[in-house]
Amino acid sequence: MTEPAIKYRLIKKEKHTGARLGEIITPHGTFPTPMFMPVGTQATVKAMSPEELKAMGAGIILSNTYHLWLRPGEDLVKEAGGLHKFMNWDQGILTDSGGFQVFSLADMRNITEEGVHFKSHLNGAPLFLSPEKAIQIENALGSDIMMSFDECPPFYESYDYIKKSVERTSRWAERGLKAHQDPEKQALFGIVQGGGHEDLRKLSARDLVSLDFPGYSIGGLSVGESKAEMNRVLDFTTPLLPEDKPRYLMGVGSPDALIDGVLRGVDMFDCVLPTRIARNGTCMTSHGRLVVKNAKYARDFSPIDDNCDCYTCRNYTRAYVRHLFKADETFGLRLTSYHNLYFLLNLMKQVRQAIMDDNLLEFKEHFFEEYGLNVK
Ligand code: GUN
Ligand code: ZN
Repeated sequence: MTEPAIKYRLIKKEKHTGARLGEIITPHGTFPTPMFMPVGTQATVKAMSPEELKAMGAGIILSNTYHLWLRPGEDLVKEAGGLHKFMNWDQGILTDSGGFQVFSLADMRNITEEGVHFKSHLNGAPLFLSPEKAIQIENALGSDIMMSFDECPPFYESYDYIKKSVERTSRWAERGLKAHQDPEKQALFGIVQGGGHEDLRKLSARDLVSLDFPGYSIGGLSVGESKAEMNRVLDFTTPLLPEDKPRYLMGVGSPDALIDGVLRGVDMFDCVLPTRIARNGTCMTSHGRLVVKNAKYARDFSPIDDNCDCYTCRNYTRAYVRHLFKADETFGLRLTSYHNLYFLLNLMKQVRQAIMDDNLLEFKEHFFEEYGLNVK
């Protein structure tokens, strides 16, 4: 018997909801769950240093197979000693498989049983990605948690197409599992697809669970459907997954969706949202979104969020950050990026405490009210 590379420890279930408090032990440290993972697509979380990420409490970040394959190439990263060493990050790294990026970035895709033919979004060169190729790249990168190569079809694609796609994603998952070199060093997750259809999510989960992955991702969500739709799908999908393995909801990072996912038993999340909106001056605060570039903050010498004790909020004012954005100074987007990531990591910390205290629903009600969201 081989020991899986990661271990999930379920510490406690919340009394009134499906929320779980736990931890994941990886070859590069242990992080508590539920957890939000900052996105570092190109072997860097945009504008943040590893020291800053550590200081804000990020125990794991996400990176992308697709991007690193195209540039600088997985061989170069391997030659550097692996992705951790290359980017000077000694905590957890999860890599997405490239499946999603091929579908969202690349031009002229042609999906076959063997894999996907497409053109590079950088220079138009013809490329081919398969389950085996994705695993080979992820093995070379040396991430702690790898994703299977999957297809993420549009949420409102036809039932027949999604069914065929789920069946193919299951076959791809099995091929990836066979190609995976060292399951004691790197954990490979299966990705549940199936759009908005309960029977297809069941089919997908059944196939993947039978392959006994050390963790399961929920894909095909946050792709244009409403929040209510996403919650409806989660309501019937998380119960299909084994209790003793982590569940990861891919591409979700708005504060309300994080809380709603946790309520339904999700343990891990990632999203470019906090860093992407930070770079155009939008901040997540305990009172909702704040666009720091707005004229009304020109003489506002209060912090971005009066309830936040991050580096940015402890040391700088809205007026100063606004000035930096107006003057096109990069320090401005560094300050807002730091704040937004800290805000979500801190939100998850509060969520974990609420699970411990069995008052997550009360926490949600209070948070949503302050953030300006409908509680429902
Ligand atoms: N990121 C967000 N959604 C998905 C998905 O369905 N599959 C993969 N591989 N990555 C994602
Ligand atoms: Zn702050």
